Amino acid sequence: MKSNPIRLIAISAGMLIAFSFSTAVKAQTPAAWNIPAKFKTTKNPVAVNAGSVADGKDLFAKHCKSCHGAKGLGDGPKAATLDVSCSDFSTKKFQALADGEIFFQISEGKGKMPSFKKNIPDDNGRWAIVNYIRTLAAK
Ligand code: HEC
Repeated sequence: MKSNPIRLIAISAGMLIAFSFSTAVKAQTPAAWNIPAKFKTTKNPVAVNAGSVADGKDLFAKHCKSCHGAKGLGDGPKAATLDVSCSDFSTKKFQALADGEIFFQISEGKGKMPSFKKNIPDDNGRWAIVNYIRTLAAK
């Protein structure tokens, strides 16, 4: 069969369209968190004090800093390799979340954000991270 220039053009156009769709999907804003309402009022069982904040800081350095950055600005070295934002913990909008809601996000994860129920199996460890994250609010 002779190669037909019109057919070739049609195939290349098709590939171009398919390619632009795949990049459009990548650039999509991530799905909403859908945090169950009860987490708004779940009480943080770990008191805020120097000890729990230090524990949270250690866990954050080990498990979170690579993506979220030392100050939680979303600028860790791994962040550049992701196609979604790692958020910014210093903002009023983020800090307006309840402790329980942040605890849910850390526990369950979503998309590129891992779930930490297995890697930080102690609930109180994840609550201590919440206490540390509060210290990252913009002053
Ligand atoms: C592999 C990179 C990566 C690691 C490691 C990681 N995160 Fe995330 N995190 C993300 C990404 C990406 C998002 C945004 C997810 C989305 O919206 O789909 C996110 C979102 C969040 C959010 C919600 C932010 C908001 O604006 O609502 C919190 C809270 C959070 N991460 C805390 C943590 C904590 C605490 C750790 C460590 C225990 C951690 N993350 C480890 C990538 C990471």
